[in-house]
Amino acid sequence: MTEYIIPKLPGYDSSTLDAEFQKLAAQVEEESVMLATDDGREAFRLHWLGRKQGRLKLISDAWLKTAPNDKKGAVGQRFNELKVQIEARIGVSKLRPIVDRLSQVEKEHFKTQAIEIHREKQTELVEARRIRDITLPGVAQRIGAEHPLIRTMAEIVTVFERMGYSVGLGPEVESDFYNFEALNFPPNHPARDTQDTLVVAGQDAKPGRDRLLMRTHTSPVQIRSMLDQAPPLRLVIPGKVHRNDAADATHSPVFHQVEGLCVDTNITFSDLKGTLDHAMKAFFGSSVKTRFFPSFFPFTEPSADVQISCIFCGGNGCRKCKHSGWIELLGCGMVDPAVFEAVNKRSIELGREPVYDTRRISGFAFGMGVDRIAMMKYGISDIGLLYSGDMRFLEQFA
Ligand code: PHE
Repeated sequence: MTEYIIPKLPGYDSSTLDAEFQKLAAQVEEESVMLATDDGREAFRLHWLGRKQGRLKLISDAWLKTAPNDKKGAVGQRFNELKVQIEARIGVSKLRPIVDRLSQVEKEHFKTQAIEIHREKQTELVEARRIRDITLPGVAQRIGAEHPLIRTMAEIVTVFERMGYSVGLGPEVESDFYNFEALNFPPNHPARDTQDTLVVAGQDAKPGRDRLLMRTHTSPVQIRSMLDQAPPLRLVIPGKVHRNDAADATHSPVFHQVEGLCVDTNITFSDLKGTLDHAMKAFFGSSVKTRFFPSFFPFTEPSADVQISCIFCGGNGCRKCKHSGWIELLGCGMVDPAVFEAVNKRSIELGREPVYDTRRISGFAFGMGVDRIAMMKYGISDIGLLYSGDMRFLEQFA
């Protein structure tokens, strides 16, 4: 190979660099016909990659090392691409120099060894897959089943869907505003104490109402739905909620609720009573009775707790109902006008029309714990089983 003089780079702008390096790339391709023979291959290697006079070395000296500092990157990148191209052409491998130094006997030895290892692996695989006795039972696949909680939640939702309700959903990580403030729990209100929860860390810089927490009930979705939709509105909202409750047989820090919201003109407490009475009969059977007791929730006024006649003893009194004949099942009430006002205020903040006219509309809401209902329905005595992931427990519902 004749000695090769590297010309000076005519410039450092990217189009000049591209052009110069493309010329070299074209030469690599042109000369790669030499790779057909062993001698040609060695000549090609020396010519491009030779340590002292190889072209890459000369290019590195003439173009890369002399390049001004701010151009080294641009030259270097193209230089590396060229190098990769050349190496790919001749199949340079790190093992090559080692293989080259092996004697013919050694090469033969390694080759037979490799073939042997490959053969052993193949036999092992075939052996592992061989069916030895076709009369043996097969390996049973475990079949999944709908989780009792999900099933119960879906059944409750279905009862309300049949009454014309649609399904609403909301986020589990919620802001203080939706979980509390808009539902008429002012900051520091004692009603917040019963709904202590996990809060997202590092939010001290945010205003209180924007701080994030794990929602303690599905009621924030009431607010979100009313912001999304003008009345009339009939919604059921199933979902997972979180509270700082110590786990025992009847408490879990994670549990599930189904919320309901109905807003329209002329909605009265009788509508609430009729709806829930019908829903309980549809879910538990037509002989179930309901009764309502005064209660308190910040976002409903008046508020009530609802009891159903004991589904185990039919109201006669048994251990399950603590001999009272009744089981407490859900909370409910008429939507407090303060909630509609909060929705209107938020609408204005978001640049929308306030559409919940408290003189024209009214509504009711209710919320029930799905876990407790599932436990009653399936005779589960420990709520923890619902969250244990124990297959022996879950398989019973398949
Ligand atoms: N959100 C209330 C709770 O978790 C239940 C409820 C819902 C009460 C809707 C009234 C109306 O305790």
